[in-house]
Amino acid sequence: MDELAQDGFKSLMGNELATLWRSLIESRIGMVLPARQHQLFEQRIVKNMAQYALDATSYYQLVCKDKAEWQRLAESLVVHETSFFRHTPSFELVEQYLVKANKSVKLWSVGCSTGEEAWSLAMLGDRFAMYGYEVLATDISQQVLLTAKEGVYLARKAEQIPARFRSGYGTALGQHYWQIAEHLKSNVFFRQFNLMNVVGLPFRKLDIIYCQNVLIYFKKFDRRDILNALVKCLDIGGILVLGPGEVLEWRHPQLKKIEWSGTLAYEKVCI
Ligand SMILES: C[S@@+](CC[C@H](N)C(=O)[O-])C[C@H]1O[C@@H](n2cnc3c(N)ncnc32)[C@H](O)[C@@H]1O
Repeated sequence: MDELAQDGFKSLMGNELATLWRSLIESRIGMVLPARQHQLFEQRIVKNMAQYALDATSYYQLVCKDKAEWQRLAESLVVHETSFFRHTPSFELVEQYLVKANKSVKLWSVGCSTGEEAWSLAMLGDRFAMYGYEVLATDISQQVLLTAKEGVYLARKAEQIPARFRSGYGTALGQHYWQIAEHLKSNVFFRQFNLMNVVGLPFRKLDIIYCQNVLIYFKKFDRRDILNALVKCLDIGGILVLGPGEVLEWRHPQLKKIEWSGTLAYEKVCI
């Protein structure tokens, strides 16, 4: 298959417009659209163009200036796959940090998707943080945040929660669903936040930043800028928990690598 045929963008719109779409997506959400998604993306654009009776160029111009249309398109681009306690060793590391904490702990789930990661952190906080905890959970997608806040999941998703947490932190809702316990909800705050706005990051003195399966979609330099900004948000002694293998060739003078098997995590040791 030649390069042109593989690239849905080019076959529909020609090189120039394809390049414009790519840079719009990269500059707004940092995402480098994987080749396998090109055709899907193209189909969505064609559908939207037909809906508004616009040609390719006019639809591109509409997306550039209309915030709501951009958000609708962006929702369809991002990958939301997630699960409770997705990466066991990382959650074990968080658990031991919480056990040792001698103050209230502030955690951030970065790119929280439908909330499973944030609720998993909250279960650990509730069980092990002796002086209290708060979980901030952010994502660019408004749709996933609605699900996250509601805290209702398919019962088979809840089976991923270790048995020692499942019964205390949720209940069955009918035959097919499971809902998060009400008492966890007052400690978890979901907000829409685009990681491309790192310059204005409003979060400070956090103790645990949990950022997995998000940065893999970003360009190398955006990834570096975001990581550097995340470090600024950490308190001294706080930890940054990344996905193993997700970040290569990045060092930061304020961080020390934590030796915890199967994880990629750092402690902030100075400012
Ligand atoms: C694959 S999910 C990962 C969910 C969770 N962290 C996990 O590891 O299971 C990636 C999430 O990152 C979010 N995301 C992608 N680009 C983003 C951006 N620029 N700002 C904030 N969130 C973003 C997506 O909406 C999606 O929900």
